[in-house]
Amino acid sequence: MTAQQSNQNFKLENLFNVKGKVALITGGGSGIGLMATQALSVNGAKVYIVGRTEEKLARVAELYNKGISGEIIPLTADITKKDEIRALADEISNREGHLSILMNNAGISSKTQETEHADAGKLRESLFDDPAATFEEWDDVFRTNVSQLFFVTTAFLPLLQRGSEKEHGWSSTVINTTSISGIVKVSQHHFAYNASKAAAVHLTKMLAHEVSSSNLRVRVNNIAPGVYPSEMTAGESDEMQKNSIPTEKYEKKVPAARPGRDEDMASTVLFTAANQYLNGQTVVVDGGYVLAAGSVN
Ligand SMILES: NC(=O)c1ccc[n+]([C@@H]2O[C@H](COP(=O)([O-])OP(=O)(O)OC[C@H]3O[C@@H](n4cnc5c(N)ncnc54)[C@H](OP(=O)(O)O)[C@@H]3O)[C@@H](O)[C@H]2O)c1
Repeated sequence: MTAQQSNQNFKLENLFNVKGKVALITGGGSGIGLMATQALSVNGAKVYIVGRTEEKLARVAELYNKGISGEIIPLTADITKKDEIRALADEISNREGHLSILMNNAGISSKTQETEHADAGKLRESLFDDPAATFEEWDDVFRTNVSQLFFVTTAFLPLLQRGSEKEHGWSSTVINTTSISGIVKVSQHHFAYNASKAAAVHLTKMLAHEVSSSNLRVRVNNIAPGVYPSEMTAGESDEMQKNSIPTEKYEKKVPAARPGRDEDMASTVLFTAANQYLNGQTVVVDGGYVLAAGSVN
């Protein structure tokens, strides 16, 4: 190989090449999922976006399909139901026969509770006696943020393996959207959510281990975002299916002095999807949130 040929490998379009890849992103109709959808489809990937609300997905496809080299295709499903996950895998199998990138991004938050009490009775009132604090709520949050990752990933393993076999030099990849909430020591006033995200980080590592131990060529990683504008963090989307968070809200909370931007997430998704040497890892992209809040370990 000549030096010029070697240089060629360092071009951005080779390092972060997702052209022609088939991707599926759950929760692709808003927030972080939409950022990931744009990152991949603008750079040539065919991206299936999955969510429960048809209008949201249709709006994203209508708005963001124009003038891009890839494609965005909406598919409605509830990924907390095993039969709907199976139907989704069958649909991708019939349409494509393989999958290159699976981003398990759909997630929900839990209710907030006050933790700033110096009195044990008051703390109990807030965390236990509050009628909103129920086992059912914990079950819902874990079902969407943890169990679902396990079932969606395992349902798609054959299609992901086929994606790797199809293309020399490419290993298909699972990217779970976890959170810095699963890393920081503070509860951020929502114990159930933070516990679920810590479980999701660990689940990613177990899956990465078991999948590679089975000699499958499928990489499993997770992205742990800090704060980004989304329906979860900022309420309803605007007419572009986008959200915003005032910069001042995080000026003093995060070393970056602002919430995350679309581009911060987009470059992380491209890196995590395309880097063939990344496996079993947590990619934290948080403007320094964990540095400021402190982690458990
Ligand atoms: N934004 C942040 O600051 C932040 C930080 C760290 C981690 N995260 C994580 O990032 C991921 C994306 O959240 P987001 O912040 O972008 O919030 P979001 O805008 O609310 O996006 C979540 C998406 O998931 C979909 N979804 C939820 N439950 C689903 C289900 N059962 N089946 C199919 N789709 C489902 C929702 O669509 P439907 O309701 O239409 O189904 C929605 O589009 C989540 O896992 C979240 O925990 C977010």
